[in-house]
Amino acid sequence: MQHSAEDMDDQGAFDPSQDPQVQRIFRKLRRAGESSGSDLDVAPLFPGFPFDVRLVAGITPIERDGPLDFFIDRPNGMRGWIINLTVEGAGRVFDGPESFVVEQGDLLLFPPQAVHYYGRDPAAEKWWHRWVYFQPRAYWRNWLQWEKQVQKVHVLRRRDGAFFREMFRLFVEVEKLSMLTDSLSADLAFNCLEHILLSCARVERAAQMKNVPIDERVLSACTLISTNLQQPMGVREIAAEVCLSPSRLSHLFHKHVGMGIVQWRDSQRIQYAMQLLRVTSVPIKSLSQMVGYDDPLYFSRVFRRQVGMSPRAFRARSMEVGDEPAEHASPARG
Ligand code: FCB
Repeated sequence: MQHSAEDMDDQGAFDPSQDPQVQRIFRKLRRAGESSGSDLDVAPLFPGFPFDVRLVAGITPIERDGPLDFFIDRPNGMRGWIINLTVEGAGRVFDGPESFVVEQGDLLLFPPQAVHYYGRDPAAEKWWHRWVYFQPRAYWRNWLQWEKQVQKVHVLRRRDGAFFREMFRLFVEVEKLSMLTDSLSADLAFNCLEHILLSCARVERAAQMKNVPIDERVLSACTLISTNLQQPMGVREIAAEVCLSPSRLSHLFHKHVGMGIVQWRDSQRIQYAMQLLRVTSVPIKSLSQMVGYDDPLYFSRVFRRQVGMSPRAFRARSMEVGDEPAEHASPARG
C-alpha cells in the first residue's frame, strides 16, 4: 500500500479530522471479513502484531464503541521505542492515581519495556493518535529524554498550534516514507523522525533554560572547540582562553549545553567525520586525523559507540543508492 502526494496536501488546509489515512482505515474496518492480518493499514492496530521492524508508523483512530475502542495493554512494554501524538479527541494513559489525559498536540514517548496502558478517555467521543515505533540510532540518546515522566513514560504537553501543525506534518511524512519500498525512503523516514525528536528536544531544552541566557564564555568555548577539531585543545587550555577555571567551565558547560565538554567535542568530531565519510573518499586513517584522532582504532571505537556502526560500514551505507527491489523495506526492516 502506497500513499500519494495528494493524500495530505502539506500546503493545503490543515484539518486533522479529515486525515485520508483515517478514512481509509475506517473503510477497511467496515468491510467485514477482510483479512486484516496482512494489511499494514490495520494489522498493527490490533493485538498480536509482532513489531519486528526497525520503524513502523501509523494512526489509530479510536471512536467510542468502534472496533478499536479498547485499551492498549502491554504490561511488559515493547522492544523498541514509541512516540505518540494526539491528533483528535482525548486519550487516557494508565489507570488509578497515576492516570492522566492527553489532548490534541500532546506527545508521549515510551522507552522499551515501559508499560503501555492507554485508550480513549471515557469522557471523550474519540481518541485519534499518530505513532511511530522505532529502534533509535545510537546518537539520538540525548534527545530521548523529556523532563516530565510518569512511570517511565515521557510527556510533552502541546506548545502552540504551529508546533502541533509541524509535528502532525512530520508524523504524516514519516508514515508515507516508511511505506515506500526503496532504501533511501527508509533513510528519509528516519531522517524525518530525527527531525521530530530534535524539535521536541529543542522545546524541552528551551523550557528548561527559560531565563538562563547562554553564557558567552560557554559560547566562546564551543567556538574554540569546533574551530580546532583537528588539533583538539585540552579543557585546561580552553578554560584559560575563556578566563575561567577548568571546574567552573565544566560546570557552566553542563548547565548550558546539557553535556560535558569532552562529550560535546567528541560528538562534534564524529559529526564532522560522518560528513567527510559521506561526501569524500578520504581513507579512514587520514580521516580520523582530520577530525582530531591520532589513533584510527580509537576513532573507530568512539564512532561505533556514537553512530552504532563502524566508519567503514557507515560509508558503505551512505554510498548505497536507492531503487532496491521492493522486498527490501516495507516497512524498513532492521
Ligand atoms: C497500535 C496502537 C498504537 C501503538 C502501536 C505501536 O496497536 O494503537 O497506539 O501502540 O500499536
